[in-house]
Amino acid sequence: MSKISIAIDGPASAGKSTVAKILAKDLGYIYLDTGAMYRAITYAALKSNCDLASEEAIAKLLPTTMITFKQTEQGQLVFINDEDVTEAIRKPDVTNAVSQVAAQAAVRTDLVRRQRAFGEEGGIVMDGRDIGTAVLPNAEVKIFLVASVVERAERRYKENIENGIETDFETLKKEIEDRDYKDTTRKISPLVQAEDAVKIDTTGMGIAEVVSAIKDQVTLKMDKKR
Ligand code: CDP
Ligand code: CDP
Repeated sequence: MSKISIAIDGPASAGKSTVAKILAKDLGYIYLDTGAMYRAITYAALKSNCDLASEEAIAKLLPTTMITFKQTEQGQLVFINDEDVTEAIRKPDVTNAVSQVAAQAAVRTDLVRRQRAFGEEGGIVMDGRDIGTAVLPNAEVKIFLVASVVERAERRYKENIENGIETDFETLKKEIEDRDYKDTTRKISPLVQAEDAVKIDTTGMGIAEVVSAIKDQVTLKMDKKR
């Protein structure tokens, strides 16, 4: 049976990458974390002391910033050229700057081109903000994952505790709200539900329940294709 493309979009901490990874594994598909690519460019910009407001300076970094993913027993690792940046791109300095960098035209054009190349053959689960609207507009299954901001902040808070990171809940919630605001109001490919996407409100839902709801959509699509 031919492999389809699955686009998962939604705001910060809605559970996109967690469910996308499980889904890809279960289906034997590739998983592409597009947020990690925006984070990687932001990390490279911070490392070279770029003025983050200068589109020109960041555009110059793009051709030399090769981003690759490596599957390991511990999960997916992210590299910039030969440097393992898996942990560094999740640090607060990157998290708080990424939406500014991701709003820039040169960055989006370049990364969307790279993301489409990954998805050419189908058999992919991609998560981000503009997958169903801009990167894979022909994806067979499009999911828009949401959850209340309080629940999303609680999920991140718990995740941080599990990783031994102390955070203030209200600060975390505000950071999520700020990033959502920047992502939904930017000019190019803002975060918006694609017309043909299925919205799943995951407030109060466990991970397995969300994965199962998406699999129902995949089965529906596969049955129609048969
Ligand atoms: O996992 P989390 O929700 O923290 O965010 P992410 O998926 O790692 O994405 C980080 C940031 O990259 C987002 O807040 C967006 O500004 C940007 N992004 C984007 O603009 N387009 C995408 N397809 C994916 C991420
Ligand atoms: O990729 P995105 O920013 O949308 O979210 P994530 O990093 O996949 O999920 C954020 C946190 O919420 C993780 O610790 C997940 O384990 C957790 N989560 C959850 O508790 N319940 C769900 N239904 C989905 C995710």
